[in-house]
Amino acid sequence: MTTAAKSTSAAPPRMPPCDHRPQPYAGPGRAEVLALRREFLTPSLITYYREPIMIVEGHMQWLFDETGRRYLDAFAGIVTVSVGHCHPRVVEAVRRQNERLQHTTTIYLHPNAALFAKKLASTFPRQSGLSVCAFTNSGGEANDLAVMMARAFTGSFDVIALRHAYHGMSSATMGLSGLSTWKQPFPHGLGVQHARLPDRYRGPWGYDEADAGRRYADDVADLIRTGTSGKIAAFIAEPILGVGGAIEMPPGYLIEVYSSVRAAGGLCIADEVQTGFGRTGDAFWGFQNHGVTPDIVTLAKGIGNGAPLGCVVTRPEIAKAFTQRLHFNTYGANPVSMAQGLATLEVILENGIQARAKEIGTRLIGGLRELQKRHPKLGDVRGRGLMVGVELVEDPRTKAPAPALAADVLERCREMGVLVGKGGLFGNVLRIKPPMCIESADIDFLLEVLDRALAGAVTA
Ligand SMILES: Cc1ncc(COP(=O)(O)O)c(C=O)c1O
Repeated sequence: MTTAAKSTSAAPPRMPPCDHRPQPYAGPGRAEVLALRREFLTPSLITYYREPIMIVEGHMQWLFDETGRRYLDAFAGIVTVSVGHCHPRVVEAVRRQNERLQHTTTIYLHPNAALFAKKLASTFPRQSGLSVCAFTNSGGEANDLAVMMARAFTGSFDVIALRHAYHGMSSATMGLSGLSTWKQPFPHGLGVQHARLPDRYRGPWGYDEADAGRRYADDVADLIRTGTSGKIAAFIAEPILGVGGAIEMPPGYLIEVYSSVRAAGGLCIADEVQTGFGRTGDAFWGFQNHGVTPDIVTLAKGIGNGAPLGCVVTRPEIAKAFTQRLHFNTYGANPVSMAQGLATLEVILENGIQARAKEIGTRLIGGLRELQKRHPKLGDVRGRGLMVGVELVEDPRTKAPAPALAADVLERCREMGVLVGKGGLFGNVLRIKPPMCIESADIDFLLEVLDRALAGAVTA
């Protein structure tokens, strides 16, 4: 039972205690940093909040601003911090590696990459054959590489992605990302077709349609037939859309799609940049919740608890086909990132992080469904484990998106000490994806804050 249902008093919700004391901050002030950023950093960067906040320290699920004010991080640096900010074991592993050797490139052998790859491969189902790792510096780079590998292996060029999905910001991955059309279409998607998003909240087949998965999957089969030569290189999808607003693929959808894709000679790529490493609670990898086995899996974010690190995992024969060209990068598999990745994975595996995501995520989703009973503008509560979205609407019957309400709720949550994210095509989906060390008491606090924020939002 959460405390959210009882929150009617005027006193602000009480933040659970934390024994970490932030260090005194002696750097430039927020206003100065904002001015420097405006003058010297690209204006393409965005900030949240009417008054952007400055974060200078982190400890597990907590963030601290320059004044020492504490926030509950319910967005994990955009789903990146898997086991907690500055987790002591991860920090120690990186410190030790930094003191010994920071860089060499893969021209020479180093144990860290080999040991990390072995451990990472052991997390995939044995019969999947997913055993070869190619390390990159980001998720976008991993997706670029995955598509190049699929094209090299199949000899085909066409790729199918989903509308409103997000796969990165390189030129090629912007082409994959239906969401890059948010502002303006980017002409980067040569050879990429976008299939209908299987969105059971807004699409033609809803949660009550038992056959929704197959019906949405038909669109991919149609696209292969009508939009390609009939032979394709790959299909790429996230098991649960991240930036696109926590939309999970319907049951049976990926089984049907993977079958059509393979019949057209294509490979199936699962983008697990957000859903991997136990975050969905029910499985270590998001694809395992859908009864499918991808040919290529891409990883980033939670893999390194904040390190600039990504990876492509695939079968040996697919990796081998790519040796027809030389491929490496300067920092991929660097010893420091490898130390950070390995320590993070050890914490995830040894500390029962997946089971925790399941337990705490169930509490979170249950609490949000309770809130939904009192706040009809919570149009849809969805997700799995600690990969959760709340779609805000003006009216549950019309489902008119409520982006201004989402922005206001975000603002109010911040005022009460909770940082959540937002996303979705209309910017009206609250994204709640905390570090997986979050505690039950933090979830109750978050729900109480959200309850207040929804009750008091100016546009509510
Ligand atoms: C599902 C997904 N794929 C790929 C990316 C790109 O990762 P990166 O920002 O590390 O390039 C992201 C980033 O948000 C993502 O959410």
